[in-house]
Amino acid sequence: MKLLSIVGARPQFIKVAPFAREIADHNKKGGAPLEHLIIHTGQHYDAGMSDIFFEELEIPRADFNLGVGSGRHGSQTGQMLEKIEQVLLDTRPDMVVIYGDTNSTVAGALAAVKLHIPVAHVEAGLRSFNRRMPEEINRIVADHTSDILLAPTPTAMANLAREGLSQKAHWTGDIMYDAVLFNRKLASHKSEIFPRLSISPDGYGLVTVHRADNTDNEQRLGSLLTVFNEIAERRMPLVFPIHPRTAKLIGERFPTWTAHPRLRLIEPLGYLDMLCLLDHARLVLTDSGGLQKEAFLLGRPCVTLREETEWVETVEAGGNVLAGVDSARIWQAVMEWEERSQKGTNEFSDRLIASFGDGRAA
Ligand code: UD1
Repeated sequence: MKLLSIVGARPQFIKVAPFAREIADHNKKGGAPLEHLIIHTGQHYDAGMSDIFFEELEIPRADFNLGVGSGRHGSQTGQMLEKIEQVLLDTRPDMVVIYGDTNSTVAGALAAVKLHIPVAHVEAGLRSFNRRMPEEINRIVADHTSDILLAPTPTAMANLAREGLSQKAHWTGDIMYDAVLFNRKLASHKSEIFPRLSISPDGYGLVTVHRADNTDNEQRLGSLLTVFNEIAERRMPLVFPIHPRTAKLIGERFPTWTAHPRLRLIEPLGYLDMLCLLDHARLVLTDSGGLQKEAFLLGRPCVTLREETEWVETVEAGGNVLAGVDSARIWQAVMEWEERSQKGTNEFSDRLIASFGDGRAA
């Protein structure tokens, strides 16, 4: 059987890694051989956003690199669609596997279904119910065009049922949980992030921002930059590995803004350094879906800089607070976590961790 995975953006490299490893193990054990081809669309192309993940996570080199790069949504997705179609015509896989909710996901789904090639969607059924997010549109299109829906959580299964998609849906657990469990120890041995940044475990907060809703709106981005500086000054040092999209927009919109000395802006990190920083963060402030969930799986408190989340289990279990970008609400959430941490009551229920499976989704 010939499987073809389509990836292109940072979180997808993390998701394909456990799957590629599982296929290699299966072949080593002498199962019916599975051929696994990988297309990299080129959506993320900087070494720090792409190559480092292939190296650290030992993902086989992509068989096809489409070099599509950045662009507006229509143009980026359109170019991917055209180029993926050609590869599918040339290679004729038995099944295409797509991951998550990026433009690479939706381009892969559309190219394959039009050629009548079955599609499996890893991380199906997530919904924020906010259709202003490009990712939400990508999720809906990918789920409704795919043939096999691989859902990470029971909530995702319920979302699929509500859209009439139960017949195609399977609860597999979350493949990013596989990656966390597999790499956690490795990260603690290999990462040199603490000496490199001269920080100590549990003595800092970790910040990331890259959602278009936050970065493309000057008021929202400005509000976040102000509150980060305040938290750094008054509560704790913050480490902010900065996504290129965010760095570019800060430069354009706030050319005179300077970070407080305790707000450390650094280049994007590889997976192992990020996992290590997450695993020992006093607090995580983020608008990333993946990071919210990883913080939860590692038992770290999180403040989500959005109004809604796809990972509702993290909120239900008391490990994640939705604070949007409003300074007062963010401060309130930070202070609540700080008080709980002083009283030693900042542990939250791990009852819902089982919703993410047992680390064997792949
Ligand atoms: C994409 C995904 C998002 C995912 C995120 C993870 C979509 C619609 N969004 O958003 O779901 O959570 O990846 O990071 O697919 N850029 C670089 N170098 C790179 C990549 C991007 O400089 O290697 C810059 C470019 O200025 C580009 C901008 O980032 O215009 C946005 O890139 P884009 O492809 O839209 O993806 P993300 O914003 O990263």
